[in-house]
Amino acid sequence: MDAIKFDARAGWNVSDLHQDSSWRFSLNDTARNHLREMIIAAFDPDRPFFDYHADEFDLGPAHQTIKAALDMAHHGLGIALLGGLPRDGISEKEFELLNWAIGLQFGVARPQGIASQYISQVRDVGTDYRAKTGRGYSSNAKLDFHSDGCDLVTLACYNKARSGGQSMISSSVSAWQTLCAERPDLAEIAHHSEFCFSRQNEQAADEGPFYPQPLFDFEDGRLFAKWNRNRVRTAQQIEGVPALNPAQIEVTDLLDDILSRPEIMFTMYLEPGDLQILNNHVMLHSRTDYVDHEAPEDKRLLSRLWLAPPDSVRLPESWGAYFRETAPGTVRGGIRGQNYDESRLAFEQRQAKHLGMPAPASAIS
Ligand SMILES: [Fe+2]
Repeated sequence: MDAIKFDARAGWNVSDLHQDSSWRFSLNDTARNHLREMIIAAFDPDRPFFDYHADEFDLGPAHQTIKAALDMAHHGLGIALLGGLPRDGISEKEFELLNWAIGLQFGVARPQGIASQYISQVRDVGTDYRAKTGRGYSSNAKLDFHSDGCDLVTLACYNKARSGGQSMISSSVSAWQTLCAERPDLAEIAHHSEFCFSRQNEQAADEGPFYPQPLFDFEDGRLFAKWNRNRVRTAQQIEGVPALNPAQIEVTDLLDDILSRPEIMFTMYLEPGDLQILNNHVMLHSRTDYVDHEAPEDKRLLSRLWLAPPDSVRLPESWGAYFRETAPGTVRGGIRGQNYDESRLAFEQRQAKHLGMPAPASAIS
């Protein structure tokens, strides 16, 4: 089995995260007030987010702290929590624009679903998570451990639930090490066999309804993980997807068992004004089910952004079926969906140029 040369800090256990506070960041009053004024001045309810340019936003005294948090998630512990975004006196849409404005500085936003939306409101609109078209972000269900389909995800909390909705994070590096120690035979299967993931009927015209991928792979000495039980389960109903063999079923069961062990699974509640940042290649996440508030304006609401940052590393070749690009620093990942059009492509090309990244391919399928 290959040795792990990835930044060993991503292979944390729960006591490490309690003892090491280097992944926790917080904005001071000056930085928070600057962001509040910046976003209130920029917000125009009639203006689409695609229309805003990165150079319209100056994060000012918040810039370095936000950058440090993103770097920690991307190249360090795999996780960062930034507290103290402005929340009071900020509307839902202004708060969403704030997350968008942060993203404009540090990456190319990626589409997140069938509607080819580049930012998602994580809130319960009654979606059935277990349906073959189900998505977790629009339901109140307990979610399976999974990685989002992008390099970095930022999740900005506007409202928390009345109860529940606890965030769970496990290091896939630690899970891999545990798997190798306990069942090297199953680790081989997780690394060398393909698992088919359903696209939940959100595929673009040039994509199939599922894609194959190992659960763990390596590139340039780094470990990469991918897991989502719900999508592997729904893929089993798709024509052409081979049935999981008993060893594959055993490895998925053991993996989920490892991921929820108390020394592996870190839990936290996101508070209003918190920004959680994860590197999906080394972190798996989940959340508990929740009970919401009665008043619509109090209901749990988070803003989710998927980013391709300019300083990303090379992905394993086996990641290409989903990410489309595996080269370092490229515009990659996301769910292209069925509304990918010229305006979306133009946004991506403009952002890529701004960040010094190669322009994404111009073909619209
Ligand atoms: Fe997620």
